[in-house]
Amino acid sequence: MRPPLIAGNWKMNGSLATIRTLVAEIKQGVVSTPAAEMAVFPPFPYLSGVAHLLSGTCIKLGAQNLATESGGAYTGEVSGTMLNDYNCAFVIIGHSERRSLYGETDAVVAQKFARALSCKLTPILCVGETLQEREAGVTEQVIGRQIDAVLTHCGIAAFANAVIAYEPVWAIGTGRNATPEQAQAVHAAVRTQVGEHDPGLAAALRILYGGSMKGSNARELLTMPDIDGGLVGGASLVADEFLTIYRAGLAAAEI
Ligand code: PGA
Repeated sequence: MRPPLIAGNWKMNGSLATIRTLVAEIKQGVVSTPAAEMAVFPPFPYLSGVAHLLSGTCIKLGAQNLATESGGAYTGEVSGTMLNDYNCAFVIIGHSERRSLYGETDAVVAQKFARALSCKLTPILCVGETLQEREAGVTEQVIGRQIDAVLTHCGIAAFANAVIAYEPVWAIGTGRNATPEQAQAVHAAVRTQVGEHDPGLAAALRILYGGSMKGSNARELLTMPDIDGGLVGGASLVADEFLTIYRAGLAAAEI
């Protein structure tokens, strides 16, 4: 019912040469099956080239961000309709790096989420608490507030074509992943929150885990009942690692 999605967020990494090699290597290890999905999120300048390299494969393409506006005098921004030109299926919304380094508020995140849907892109809404918030015992309130901002702006039906990614800020790029139990507890809370609005939708909603997921911890994370895939940063830049995570997703789907 919820085929795992293994999503590679390349962030601002790579070059034309390294990305060509990476795509060639991951293409070798992907299998065409509805049991699990793979998607990659290159930096904007490489979207066109990667779209071309992925044509005819089952690997989906996504973007790391999009503008709140539909077009016009917004220097440096990229619109949802531009992403449509490159067959993007997904767009990451509200990544913690966007929130903390570029000042994206819950309100901006909600606008971007709505914009993605109006452009027929599947938003991957990122939520997560800082270490300070976890230690203060307010993890579920923080995540509840981040999701509520989007629910209030877009309505529950908007989540029918969306993905949520739980990414504890303290686990991103640190090598310190949430334990499967910690992640499962938050994923279950997210599903419960969405389920209060629409239980059927919540049961079908994919909730990914992100934060130092790698080949060696993917299996234990992906076999948790409410973890439906991974949003993978560093490990998605290494084909072997990314494919190990993908295979763990496939194995989890078979359980
Ligand atoms: P990481 O990043 O896997 O390098 O921790 C995850 C993310 O930021 O999506």
